[in-house]
Amino acid sequence: MPQQQKIIIDTDPGQDDAVAILLALGSPELDVLGITAVAGNVPLRLTSKNARKICELGGRPDIKVYAGASRPLVRHLTTAEEVHGRTGLNGPTLPEPTMPLQKQHAVDFLVETLMSEPSGTVTVCPLGPLTNIALALIREPNIAKRVQRIVLMGGAYFEGGNTTPTGEFNIYVDPHAADVVFRSGIPIVMMPLDVTHKALTTAKRVKAFRDLGTPVGIATADMLDFFERFDERKYGTDGGPLHDPCVISYLLKPELFSGRECNVSIEITSELTMGMTVVDWWHVTKRPKNALVMGDIDADGYFALLVERLGRL
Ligand code: BDR
Ligand code: CA
Repeated sequence: MPQQQKIIIDTDPGQDDAVAILLALGSPELDVLGITAVAGNVPLRLTSKNARKICELGGRPDIKVYAGASRPLVRHLTTAEEVHGRTGLNGPTLPEPTMPLQKQHAVDFLVETLMSEPSGTVTVCPLGPLTNIALALIREPNIAKRVQRIVLMGGAYFEGGNTTPTGEFNIYVDPHAADVVFRSGIPIVMMPLDVTHKALTTAKRVKAFRDLGTPVGIATADMLDFFERFDERKYGTDGGPLHDPCVISYLLKPELFSGRECNVSIEITSELTMGMTVVDWWHVTKRPKNALVMGDIDADGYFALLVERLGRL
């Protein structure tokens, strides 16, 4: 088998985060070195528990899960229970996890791993607010040149925001952290709402998960049934956007996505547009290109990959 890609998933589960984790666990090309939890969709106490529930659902209680930041760098924590439910994983009934939470802090784990693994071999996959990643960069700036790349879900350009008119949730919750990350010089691949709003959990696609007939397939369908309610009402669509698995799918099948290299700057001063990802899509400034901003997705290919990989668990 060709060498596995080493990844760290930084996450705030969240049903779509959960599907992203399951996709990684079902994919032999990926070596999940650890999962770091951050406060976001729900508080840290729940995201660090939910990550373990999902590892156990995926049959991988051996995966190491670390708790990180319990609040953004500067602003108060904004959560999204209206989307994800009180637990963050409403939908299926999943047992309390028995696998332990690691004692080490997530930021220490990130720094230690990125400094000890060979340079340029670890991809970091943030699926929530970027607080842990920014803290790691502040703690040990040398990690910036050692990270292979960051592939993240966050931001929006043509679609506008989902939390404010210009703010996508992950970036809006901790814009100062996003600013640190986008200025870090690490190669970034960004999956914005422009992509994820084309990846809808239609009734037919959810049924394909349920038809797997496995605990993972049924729990995934239950999660998606719950999670899409809010967005179906909001956008008037059949299904809601399945955001976070786009990140893991990109590692497995980059050809499902297309985009362009741009400068992305984060708004951190205006309260009106706080957390906006200002994408220089048309290259109208001389600001340096710092991200590959995705704009399109083969949604049928994406869901086919998800069903196939979750079917292995
Ligand atoms: C992002 O916000 C969260 O609600 C989702 O998990 C996703 O990471 C979408 O804006
Ligand atoms: Ca998320």
